[in-house]
Amino acid sequence: MQNSLFDSSEILSVERRVRELHDIIRRADYAYYNEAQPFISDKEYDDFFHELQTIEKQYPQFLFSDSPTQRVGGEPLKEFVTVVHEIPMLSLSNTYSFGEIEEFHRRVSEGLEGHIVEYVSELKYDGIAISLRYVNGVFVRAITRGDGEKGDDITQNVKTIRSLPLTITPPTINGVTVDDFEVRGEIFMMKEDFIKINREREEKGEKLYANPRNLAAGTLKMLDSREVARRPLHIACYYLYTKQTELVSHQHNISILETMGFPIGYANQCCVSLQDIFSFINYWHTHRESLPFFIDGIVIKVNALSQQRELGFVARSPRWAIAYKYEAAKETTVLKDITFQVGRTGVVTPVAELEPVVVAGSTISRATLHNNDFITALDIRIGDTVYVEKGGDVIPKVSGFIPEKRPENSSQFIFTATCPCPIKSTLVRPEGEANYYCDHSECPWQLKRRLTHFASRDAMNIEGLGEKVVDRFVELSLLRSIADIYDLHLHKNTVFPTLERWGEKSTVNLLAAIEESKKQPFSKVLFSLGIRFVGEGVAKILTRYFHTIDQLKNATVEQLIQVPEIGERIAQSVIEHLNDESEWTIIERMKANGVRFETVESDMATLNTTLQGKTFVLTGELVSMTRNQAGDEIAQRGGKVSGSVSKKTHYLVAGENAGSKLTKAQELGVTILTEQEFLLLLAE
Ligand code: IVH
Repeated sequence: MQNSLFDSSEILSVERRVRELHDIIRRADYAYYNEAQPFISDKEYDDFFHELQTIEKQYPQFLFSDSPTQRVGGEPLKEFVTVVHEIPMLSLSNTYSFGEIEEFHRRVSEGLEGHIVEYVSELKYDGIAISLRYVNGVFVRAITRGDGEKGDDITQNVKTIRSLPLTITPPTINGVTVDDFEVRGEIFMMKEDFIKINREREEKGEKLYANPRNLAAGTLKMLDSREVARRPLHIACYYLYTKQTELVSHQHNISILETMGFPIGYANQCCVSLQDIFSFINYWHTHRESLPFFIDGIVIKVNALSQQRELGFVARSPRWAIAYKYEAAKETTVLKDITFQVGRTGVVTPVAELEPVVVAGSTISRATLHNNDFITALDIRIGDTVYVEKGGDVIPKVSGFIPEKRPENSSQFIFTATCPCPIKSTLVRPEGEANYYCDHSECPWQLKRRLTHFASRDAMNIEGLGEKVVDRFVELSLLRSIADIYDLHLHKNTVFPTLERWGEKSTVNLLAAIEESKKQPFSKVLFSLGIRFVGEGVAKILTRYFHTIDQLKNATVEQLIQVPEIGERIAQSVIEHLNDESEWTIIERMKANGVRFETVESDMATLNTTLQGKTFVLTGELVSMTRNQAGDEIAQRGGKVSGSVSKKTHYLVAGENAGSKLTKAQELGVTILTEQEFLLLLAE
């Protein structure tokens, strides 16, 4: 495995290299996305990927439909082509009661004339059903369920799902090589990614997705697969079908899928009695909260396919399966009050203050009410008994009230006209927006949020400057703006020693963290400023095109909207913020104190190249860091991590219990480093 550009004169070797790159990238994707055990660094992965893209551009005859480069999307489509399903995609009958599962079991047993039946219980993923076709080992088509008879061809979008294999080795079943089959599964989004994407949309002032399912559905409907590639979609496969041979059981099919490298469902269990099924349902009812994705129930299927065939279908559902759905967890409680929260950009959000209530295992006493339109639409009033739900949404929500329990003297809720802070400035609602804003530059509530945002981990990462400390320092007038953070050292020997519950160590640690934050790159600094609509992603893009804060300040709307993804609203907001006199003073003060307001040149200057050109192989367990962290450290110094030992390997880092790689390195005479020696090398 070599990582260099090809020799263009040798067509044969080009094709060989293309195949080799497919293989490396495919294995790297599988290790990263399906096993969470990457064997090459991000940098090395990018290099391979880029090499493949370069070859494909020069030799289009070697651009195959199953190339990993196709995962990053292609030319946008005008519309999706509708395709008829070879076997209709039916739905399952649903139930919410154990009684109906008993009924289901009775019907199944009757249909099988009393023969013993074994079931498989699985998680019911709350996502989008998809049908995938593989021919001659290659993924050829993905079709949505549509109306069950025909759906949309969304192959290009589905190719972006990294955990899905684009090529497989056709399995041998009953002695037959099965090279034409269909797989079905559910495409979904992780809760964590859903929150992140919505947060970014909120920062850009875009409409939020209601839940991960809607987000996954909205993503798959995009005509531009390059956009889809930026959204981390996942898939769980739960069905295999082929005409080429007779398949035996559902469990066996799942293990065939797994062997081929398909991501299969997280938990599936063989159940030989109703009791087994009920235990599985109960277990996941209480544990589903801890899953990183949403499930909306459990699917119970007859395991033997001969029995499935015998049972057949009724109307539009199979007789051999049933879905037990969990009710969206919903409780009622009293809405004690509606308070207001001021965000860092001045947005004023109404918050429901609730009589604490336990919903799906967590105590809820507050829930966001989003904005005035939301309250008006629900017509909820203080004193109402309201429903609090936790279902397909990550954040609990108030979804209505019980009219009979409304207190007689209640009156319609009136949104505040002034900021809840002591300044009480009049709120403004920009045209076309649902939010009200406080735009007073000295609003202490806004200031507190700005400061906590500025110091947060994703921003300037100043440990020790959390919400409580910020509140305290603002009350003490130690912090009147974010620029004051970099003057806190002036109080080292005066104010700090007099503070209660604040030791010398707190001062030392805080000041060190503040000093450290000066190393944060320009993109982080820009994000930290808390400019309306400038989230982490937007800040990164902006700093890629504008290398200093002065360039950004002097840019015109026309120049800014030339930048991909930057619209007029963001452009206006950036210009307004940077040209505001008091904001600019804050920036100038921080600049003078060494905060980085420029990019590249300074970033390049600090680039460490001590391991430039060196290839490492990591093996065994490291004590001081994970292998991933070690890989990052190497990459930061210009080195590479490879998955296997060859003559080209410069160093093998051998942790505890190192195995065959160590032996191979010894045979090839590769320099072997203990963890200690490796740490010394990093420190050079
Ligand atoms: S089996 C013939 N298994 O739930 C039925 N479906 O209401 C084949 N779903 O359309 C479906 N997780 O979109 C099956 N483990 C699972 C599932 C699952 C989610 C979805 C699927 C299906 C719907 C049925």
